[in-house]
Amino acid sequence: MSCLKATHLIKKQHVRQSAQDIPFLCAFSFPEKSVSAVLAKGHKDRPSGFFYNVISFIQLAKTLKVKRRIGEMIKGRFEGKTAVITGAAQGMGEAIARRFAAEGGRALIVDIEVDKLEAVAASIGEAVVPMEVDVRRSDSVAAMAEKARELYGKVDILFSNAGILDYAPFLETTEEMYDDIMNTNAKGVFLCGKAIAQLMVDTGTKGCIVNTSSINSKIVAATTSAYSASKGAVRQLTRVMAVDLAPYGIRVNAFAPGSVKTRMTEKTRANKEKTAYFQSMWCIKRSAEPEEEAAVALFLASDDASYMTGETVCVDGGWHIV
Ligand SMILES: NC(=O)c1ccc[n+]([C@@H]2O[C@H](COP(=O)([O-])OP(=O)(O)OC[C@H]3O[C@@H](n4cnc5c(N)ncnc54)[C@H](O)[C@@H]3O)[C@@H](O)[C@H]2O)c1
Repeated sequence: MSCLKATHLIKKQHVRQSAQDIPFLCAFSFPEKSVSAVLAKGHKDRPSGFFYNVISFIQLAKTLKVKRRIGEMIKGRFEGKTAVITGAAQGMGEAIARRFAAEGGRALIVDIEVDKLEAVAASIGEAVVPMEVDVRRSDSVAAMAEKARELYGKVDILFSNAGILDYAPFLETTEEMYDDIMNTNAKGVFLCGKAIAQLMVDTGTKGCIVNTSSINSKIVAATTSAYSASKGAVRQLTRVMAVDLAPYGIRVNAFAPGSVKTRMTEKTRANKEKTAYFQSMWCIKRSAEPEEEAAVALFLASDDASYMTGETVCVDGGWHIV
C-alpha cells in the first residue's frame, strides 16, 4: 500500500484512531520523499491531528536511525594516527573531524572561519587543535604544515576539503569569481597537498591524502563553469599526485559528493523547483547527510583502502550514472 493511499485511509478514518494503529503505521515502508510531501502544509492528503503527529514522529525516528547507523564508529581505527583537516569549521570537514577523533585519531583542524572552528574544536575536545589557515595562501599553508610537525612530529593523513561554490551563466562568470573559486578549490588542494606530502616524505611517513572533489567533476551542469573546472582539476590532480607520490608510499584518493546537507547547498535545497529537478536525476531521492560523505572519506584514509590510489569515488546517490 502506498503512503499516499495509507494517509488517505487514515484521513477517511477507515483506520481506527487507537493505540493499536501505531504498529500498523510503523509497518509501512515510508519513502521519505512522499512522506515529506504528504506532511507538507497545504497537501490535499495531509493527515490531521493525532495521525499527523504519529507520522511526523515515525519520520523523525527514521532519520535519527539513519544518522545513528552512519555515525557508527569503528573504535580505535585511527589510534596513533594524526591528520590535517581543511575546511573543518562546518559541513563535511566538521563531520570528518568528529568521526576521526571518535575513532582515536588526533588532528589539526583548519579553516578561515575561526569562531566556528573554535566552537567545533571545543565540542570535540583535546583530540583536535584549531588553527586559522587560508588554503589559498602558501605562507598560511606552510605555517599549517609547521604547526602539524610541531604538534605531532608527523602527519599520516591530509583531508583537503576546504571549498567554495558560486554559480553564474558562463558569459556572466567574472574573472574575480573564477579566480576565487580556482584559488580555493584547486590551488588550495595543490598547496596543502604539496606542503603535507613534503612533510610525509621528510619524516618517512607512508601516509595518504583524501581530496574533496565533486559530482561536478563528472557531470555537466549549467552555470557551474568555474566550480566544475575547479573540481575537475581536483580529480585530475588526485590522479597525478597518486602517480608522483607512489614511490614514497603515499596514497592519494578523492571522493565526489553529490548534494549534501551543508551550508553550501542551503539556497539550492530551499528552492523547490531546483530540488525537484535535481531529485529527478538521483537514484537515491534525497541529499546526503555530511556523515555519509565523511564515512567514505575515512574509509579512503584507512588501511581498508590500502590498495586504492588515484581514484575519485562518487558519493552522490547515483547522480553520475543517470
Ligand atoms: N555540499 C555539497 O553538496 C558538496 C557537493 C560536492 C562537493 N562539495 C565540496 O565539499 C567540500 C566541503 O563543503 P561543505 O559542503 O562542507 O561546505 P561548507 O561551506 O559547509 O564548508 C566549507 C568550509 O570550507 C571553508 N573554507 C572556504 N574557503 C577556505 C579557505 N580559503 N581556507 C580555509 N578554509 C576555507 C569554509 O569556511 C567552510 O567552513 C568543499 O570542497 C565542497 O566544494 C560539497
